[in-house]
Amino acid sequence: MHTIVILTGAGISAESGITTFRGPGGLWEGHRVEDVCTPEALARDPALVHRFYDLRRAALASVAPNAAHDALARLDREWGGELLIVTQNVDDLHERAGAVRLLHMHGELRSALCAACGTRQAWTGALPPGSACPACGAAALRPDIVFFGEMPYQMERIEDVLSRADLFVSIGTSGAVYPAAGFVRLARQHGAATLELNLDPSEGSAWFEETRLGRAATLVPEWVDAVLAANSPSYRT
Ligand code: OAD
Repeated sequence: MHTIVILTGAGISAESGITTFRGPGGLWEGHRVEDVCTPEALARDPALVHRFYDLRRAALASVAPNAAHDALARLDREWGGELLIVTQNVDDLHERAGAVRLLHMHGELRSALCAACGTRQAWTGALPPGSACPACGAAALRPDIVFFGEMPYQMERIEDVLSRADLFVSIGTSGAVYPAAGFVRLARQHGAATLELNLDPSEGSAWFEETRLGRAATLVPEWVDAVLAANSPSYRT
């Protein structure tokens, strides 16, 4: 059976009411995400960085998956071949829609990481700086987010599945942040077909065989319906 790899970004959650990073309203109290989400910012002003993520974690309570998350969860359930959804998003809308074959390459809001022992804890409330790690006791819990300059999670697994992909689909991402922005080229090198579904042309659009412009909540269900009806990963179906 065929292998489908799907990369998602902030655009897939936009219609659930979560603002994207680089669109209108993408600044937080005048800060660019690149200025808040760094190890240097965490060392310099932990209260600011923790508050940034506390607000985002709290906001998850008032949002819900949209038709695009639902469609990908359906594809995950019904696609008999290999499939992996690689999300750059730190929200939990894919799993709340029911997706299982999923990994969060940039971390998760509802998780805390111990900077001392590396243990992760499910975390739903506020996470003040200096919170104690339940595993080792160190006052070292931080948001479980991959900051700029840190290595995204599970890169070996991602590169491995991309090397087998028959189809690579990118949804709702601006293609501005590496290594995710390079996945399309990797998939192509290994012979995958490539499709982009995005509101606007992304920085990487030229690398895709086809780009469909529109809202994820419209384009993704249409594409999933076509793939499942044809029982083929070809985006041309
Ligand atoms: P961006 O905010 O950079 O890009 C969002 C993309 O979604 C843009 O290309 C929009 O055109 C598109 N978009 C907006 N609304 C849409 C809709 N309704 N349907 C479809 N597409 C829509 O977000 P990302 O590419 O995800 O990293 O950003 C990548 C990384 O940068 C994030 O994971 C985050 C950030 O720094 C970390 O937090 C580590």
